[in-house]
Amino acid sequence: QRFVWRRVSFARGACFKWQVVASLTGVLDDCFCDIESIDVFNNLKIFPLIRKLIEKDFFRYYRVNLKRPCPFWPDDSHCSIRDCHVEPCPEVRVQHYSLAANAIRDIKECEQAHELGAINSTLSNQSKEAFEDWAHHDDAQDHFCGLDDETSPEAEYVDLRLNPERYTGYKGPSAWRVWNSIYEENCFKPRSVYRPLNPLAPSRGECEGFYDWLEGLCLEKRVFYRLISGLHSSINIHLCAKHLLDEAWGKAVWGANVHEFRRRFGSAETKGEGTRRLKNLYFLYLIELRALSKVAPYFERAFVNLYTGNVHEDSATKELLLQILTETKAFPMHFDESSMFAGHKMEARRLKEEFRLHFKNISRIMDCVGCDKCRLWGKLQTQGLGTALRILFSEKEIKNLPENSPSKGFQLTRQEIVALLNAFGRLSTSIKELHNFRTLLKDQR
Ligand SMILES: Cc1cc2nc3c(=O)[nH]c(=O)nc-3n(C[C@H](O)[C@H](O)[C@H](O)COP(=O)(O)OP(=O)(O)OC[C@H]3O[C@@H](n4cnc5c(N)ncnc54)[C@H](O)[C@@H]3O)c2cc1C
Ligand SMILES: *[C@@H]1O[C@H](CO)[C@@H](O)[C@H](O)[C@H]1NC(C)=O
Ligand SMILES: *[C@@H]1O[C@H](CO)[C@@H](O)[C@H](O)[C@H]1NC(C)=O
Ligand SMILES: *[C@@H]1O[C@H](CO)[C@@H](O)[C@H](O)[C@H]1NC(C)=O
Repeated sequence: QRFVWRRVSFARGACFKWQVVASLTGVLDDCFCDIESIDVFNNLKIFPLIRKLIEKDFFRYYRVNLKRPCPFWPDDSHCSIRDCHVEPCPEVRVQHYSLAANAIRDIKECEQAHELGAINSTLSNQSKEAFEDWAHHDDAQDHFCGLDDETSPEAEYVDLRLNPERYTGYKGPSAWRVWNSIYEENCFKPRSVYRPLNPLAPSRGECEGFYDWLEGLCLEKRVFYRLISGLHSSINIHLCAKHLLDEAWGKAVWGANVHEFRRRFGSAETKGEGTRRLKNLYFLYLIELRALSKVAPYFERAFVNLYTGNVHEDSATKELLLQILTETKAFPMHFDESSMFAGHKMEARRLKEEFRLHFKNISRIMDCVGCDKCRLWGKLQTQGLGTALRILFSEKEIKNLPENSPSKGFQLTRQEIVALLNAFGRLSTSIKELHNFRTLLKDQR
């Protein structure tokens, strides 16, 4: 069974829709989703709620192992950004420059990136005892095994509020190598196509530049590519929206950098690719939105609680979460994933496994990100998306959950729940930021 994914774009660029057409049986699914409706839904309904939710203690602390070494290549981070101070990388680089000024600029950039990318591991008012209490509670829930990341003794809680996703100065060959690997090795790439993403490489062919072969890929594989591209867009929107604008008297000034945004997404600057990449963000948003609407029955079970030890807070948090899930269920233009994840039972199981392995691998590739803060958010968002896909693949299990038995059937770990909602919060914020950029760009003209 082969699906062809046909996209219809409108000249005005404001609205788009897509159709999934099965070449065997005619029209399978028709989803008319225009960007304006998603914008209104997100910016007015979802965004204010999700922003409130992720402030809650339950969603604020994410346990993650940032110390795993990169399993695929030696750590070659942009002049070893991670160890800028430890290893005097600039010395090596000086040889490459005839101008000392360049070398000095490099040292400065390197030090700045090191500073901006560092994790603030202060744990505000949550004590270590509180986390131990959480762990006790979670263990008692008889959860299935989580990622090895979560159970590793090296994993530590990070306060997400103290470590916002924003511009870090992480760039260059190290960043490209990571992006490249995610696309190249995990994009179900036909082996014959050479398409370097590295802007330094001589040929500028790209994954999405090859729409011809993308058309030829089965739906699932194209979906995979668009999800990654959407995540890439979201990360880059955040670094544009929270850019380091100035450093006055040692105090950083953060804000929207329209120039940077235009460089990355402007249709003239990117020959139209930017628009495509933004659409991939909306696509990713719809997928995660769909997953949230599907997981609602799980959270509606009384035995699923969002434990932090504060009974009053915990029930308020759960209530807020249920409110968001109810909103997502009411969204009228959901992506119809039935064509994608149903299929034959065997085929579906194989795909599910394939997606799982690819996501596991991407999570490993995140260990190669040479900037801790980027690594933190990269891992969180990968886990969030992986969880969303697991939900979409588990619709029946969720529906068949017993009313009162916590230890049977579909379950989510604390980290999965935190990752899922925070990852979705990132996308929701991206769409909100896009609105701001549109306004700023209009004002400039
Ligand atoms: C996992 C991860 C997390 C990161 N987090 C941060 C962060 O928090 N803060 C920060 O400042 N920097 C972060 N970065 C770095 C940032 O994403 C860029 O790599 C960096 O700013 C350099 O940008 P660039 O213009 O060279 O292009 P890159 O974003 O590095 O992209 C490389 C190439 O990929 C293609 N491309 C770009 N966007 C898309 C898309 N959406 N879809 C398909 N193809 C695309 C283009 O051909 C581009 O030249 C992160 C990088 C990674 C790998
Ligand atoms: C970390 O965050 C705390 C709380 O905001 C702040 O007091 C502290 O200075 C920060 N530490 C670093 C290294 O930025
Ligand atoms: C932590 O502090 C915030 C306000 O800064 C408060 O709302 C929250 O309840 C506190 N959490 C605990 C467990 O004390
Ligand atoms: C995982 O990613 C690495 C690095 O890109 C790659 O070498 C490897 O082949 C990938 N493995 C799988 C199973 O996709």
